[in-house]
Amino acid sequence: MKKGLLKIAALTAASVMAAMALAGCGGSDKLTMGTNAAFPPFEYTTSAGLVGEFDGIDVAIAKQIADDMGTELEIADMDFDGLIAAVSTGKVDMVAAGMTATDERRKSVDFSDTYYVASQVMVVAADNTDITKAEDLKNDKKVGVVLGYTGDGIVTEDLEIAEDKITRANRGIDIVQDVKNGKLDAVVIDSATGIALAEKNGLKVVEDAEAFETEEYAIAVKKGNKELLEKINATLAEMKSSGAIENLAVEYDEKLAASNE
Ligand code: ARG
Repeated sequence: MKKGLLKIAALTAASVMAAMALAGCGGSDKLTMGTNAAFPPFEYTTSAGLVGEFDGIDVAIAKQIADDMGTELEIADMDFDGLIAAVSTGKVDMVAAGMTATDERRKSVDFSDTYYVASQVMVVAADNTDITKAEDLKNDKKVGVVLGYTGDGIVTEDLEIAEDKITRANRGIDIVQDVKNGKLDAVVIDSATGIALAEKNGLKVVEDAEAFETEEYAIAVKKGNKELLEKINATLAEMKSSGAIENLAVEYDEKLAASNE
């Protein structure tokens, strides 16, 4: 009698778990990465991506983390300024989005070790000659940024560009179009993305190492999620020491250059 009951209990538990897994709420069977896939070479969409339509350096890193955990990678694409909330409320397990680990963000999330170092650059028209340093943006220039990116904070707070000269977009790939069509004089955005988007649109990049400090990209997890953070850091350490991350940077640079007409 007792034995039979236990068997039924076990069966029930197993089928409940199977049903949960099917419904996508198994928890351990998937690793969900939140990102904003408008940030080549770190994340962008393409017809044949690495994970569904998604491709890029962060997608490759996240895929490796999932592989090392023996689980499936799932990607949730959203506006950049919704990512911190998504990971802190548990909607996604981690954020891999070329995200700079800032003190402000550290108040809401925990960050992994650094996996990439970048800085801001200015994307201007190919024939532009009057923007050679960040200070030049203050000479009545129309400046574009992406809402919530570190570049937004730098233009607004550090350079103190007048509000009526700033245009904020939701996607990096869109705002660069406004430099191309002459609506904006410059877009301030992260270096690797600025270079990729300038190349694609026939624009050029102006650097100013004095004005723009280096920024460290890291993966964000919910505050206190030590277990996942340790797994992420283990994969990152392995990928850094083997040169895999450097190789990805070169690989995606070439891939994007080759995809231009
Ligand atoms: N590094 C910048 C920041 O953290 C920009 C990141 C944008 N990433 C993206 N996937 N759209 O604010």
